[in-house]
Amino acid sequence: MDFVDELRLLKDQLAFEHKFSVPKETKNVVIAGMGGSGIVGKIFAELYSALPVYLVDDYSTPGFVNKNTMYIAISYSGNTEETVTSLAAAMKKGANTVAITSGGKLLDMPHQRVVIPKGLQPRSALGYMLTPLLKSFNAAPRHEFQEAYAALARIDANHSEEERIAREIHEGEKIPVIYGVPPYKAVAYRWKTQFNENSKILAYSGSFPEINHNDTMALKGTYRKGEFYFIALVDGRNMAVERRIGITEAITDIKFRRIKIEGQSALARVMAAVHIGDYITYHLARMRGKDPLDVSVIEELKERLQAARE
Ligand code: PA5
Repeated sequence: MDFVDELRLLKDQLAFEHKFSVPKETKNVVIAGMGGSGIVGKIFAELYSALPVYLVDDYSTPGFVNKNTMYIAISYSGNTEETVTSLAAAMKKGANTVAITSGGKLLDMPHQRVVIPKGLQPRSALGYMLTPLLKSFNAAPRHEFQEAYAALARIDANHSEEERIAREIHEGEKIPVIYGVPPYKAVAYRWKTQFNENSKILAYSGSFPEINHNDTMALKGTYRKGEFYFIALVDGRNMAVERRIGITEAITDIKFRRIKIEGQSALARVMAAVHIGDYITYHLARMRGKDPLDVSVIEELKERLQAARE
């Protein structure tokens, strides 16, 4: 499948109905996952706050994990060693475990599993991995999924603005710096990872207001400011935070390309923001003559790690 076909599938993934059960005794939630699978937990944690959510993106398992923990391992391949290791330790600690995966070792390990379709890049299966979380925790009503579907369909039908942004980055050979205003902190990171994996360029992400306590010094004083392409993800709803952007520009003498995300519900806006980044990074890959599907360096690294263990 062509990468752009994978992008068009995102909206349909929102109709995925598989869920897992969350016992009423659940006191906390741990979500473990790496890369294109790990981003799902980060996005979920920014949308859901009824229970404490702790994210794992390494080999560890938090000390507090016990029988009242809902432990969710997300790995598209099901074989990512960090996630498999973390899940194994959570099982020993008696956690209530579930895997969201298309196959691999994770299929046989936990108490429950949500099996998602194979054949996509993990980062293109975001909807298949996020939807079971949102639906199992009742984190969004049905009409928000419908609104998100419509928002994604609109972007699929017209991504000329995304292409224009990609061209500006490409022609200037810029390094993107993406800052999200809540609830787009995780989305800013998603864009960074999509620039990395799809377009094969380095990128950097952060969030307002946190960057005002550190990056702001560098925005004013760093080397070669002109080599960066500064993006702010905003929606006009969080003015207490958004007001900082103009002040930051004035103090540091840089200009942000504001990307205004439209939509009623947080879910629709977050999904739209994800998809805008998907298309910018896809167009940039095309302009650079790079294959957005190619993750051969990541695969080689995984093979070498496997060989070193045998
Ligand atoms: O997008 C990718 O291919 C990677 O970021 C993978 O998601 C990452 O290496 C983890 O693999 P998996 O998603 O199979 O757990």
